Amino acid sequence: MSTSNPALQPLCTSSIIGTGSYLPEKVLTNDDLSKIVDTSDEWITTRTGIKERHIAADDQATSDLAAEAARRAMTAAGVTPEDIDLIVVATVTPDMFFPSTACFVQRKIGATNAVCFDISAACSGFLYALQVARHFLNAGSRTTALVIGAEKLSSLVNWEDRNTCVLFGDGAGAVVIRAVDADTDAPGRVLSTVMGSDGTLSDLLKVPGGGSALPITPENAASRPNTIHMEGRETFKHAVTRMCQASEQALEMAGLTKADIAMVIPHQANARIITAIADRLGLPEEKTFVNVDKYGNTSAATIPVALDEAHRQGRIKRGDIVLLVAFGGGFTWASSVLRW
Ligand code: ACO
Repeated sequence: MSTSNPALQPLCTSSIIGTGSYLPEKVLTNDDLSKIVDTSDEWITTRTGIKERHIAADDQATSDLAAEAARRAMTAAGVTPEDIDLIVVATVTPDMFFPSTACFVQRKIGATNAVCFDISAACSGFLYALQVARHFLNAGSRTTALVIGAEKLSSLVNWEDRNTCVLFGDGAGAVVIRAVDADTDAPGRVLSTVMGSDGTLSDLLKVPGGGSALPITPENAASRPNTIHMEGRETFKHAVTRMCQASEQALEMAGLTKADIAMVIPHQANARIITAIADRLGLPEEKTFVNVDKYGNTSAATIPVALDEAHRQGRIKRGDIVLLVAFGGGFTWASSVLRW
């Protein structure tokens, strides 16, 4: 984060040096869903823009998706597992309550030198994790981090609830970030990040059961408290407002304006939310990255998956200003500005 006090300027800054993503093989289309619940391709497409989503196999845990995305990001970055000294996984679908999913990823990729932990901030999780890892790097206590957003949301979905089951999918995205000299003009630099939370609105989007507040019992199991519950319309309104505010704040913090944006990569929850944000930021379609049609909402994974695709498809190029912005349960929100 920039600061006006030179004494507080970090010696290091952080650059994204590689990206990777992994989507499980199985594809579930809207037509497939219409055979499970009372819905249609027309309803889902019109209300959300989603056409299909990927679903993990029964024997694939979140850490399996995360590990594969991590391997691809490390290959892209040209680093070995031993080079990684920090792994932060953002997820709301951890393999287990503990150990952390990051520790499972460490074991699977052989990153023996890494310190590992998870972050829970729902769909904002990846940007929260990026900011936390960046602080470790900027402070000089770590050099090379894997930041991963990974979800197996199919394990949290009530497949009998048409209000929510059509929205979500599984997947993982990862970036390798490295500490670089604050004076250099390294590509992939994170220029600014803003984050926010409002716990007073936590009831609007949650998985109420399965934790310490409401353990699953034979008596309550039938009402499926350990699945996603969402007030869709309220969530929609807050998502648009907060993501627009956060975008403007992150741009201001980086000393930039909306006119500087080459590409916005928003959290992929709903195409209508993305259009509303792009309209408010005054961005045309070609500067707005959308892949929610292929993957649905993969929560913490949407931004790193989209960033990886945008990079590999040549939609973002070296020197471009890229705006990342997310919103999720909590409520939580965050935005980062990158110079690619
Ligand atoms: N198929 C057919 N009909 C449906 C379906 C479905 N899959 N789901 C709901 N309906 C019906 C409802 O029952 C309702 O019927 P009624 O009018 O007879 O009562 C009607 O469609 C309208 O329902 P709404 O919920 O009002 O529809 P809305 O236009 O708000 O769209 C949606 C719902 C897509 C969920 C939208 O509100 C949304 O995208 N919200 C934001 C979600 C989001 O951004 N989440 C982000 C964070 S996610 C995270 O953090 C994990």
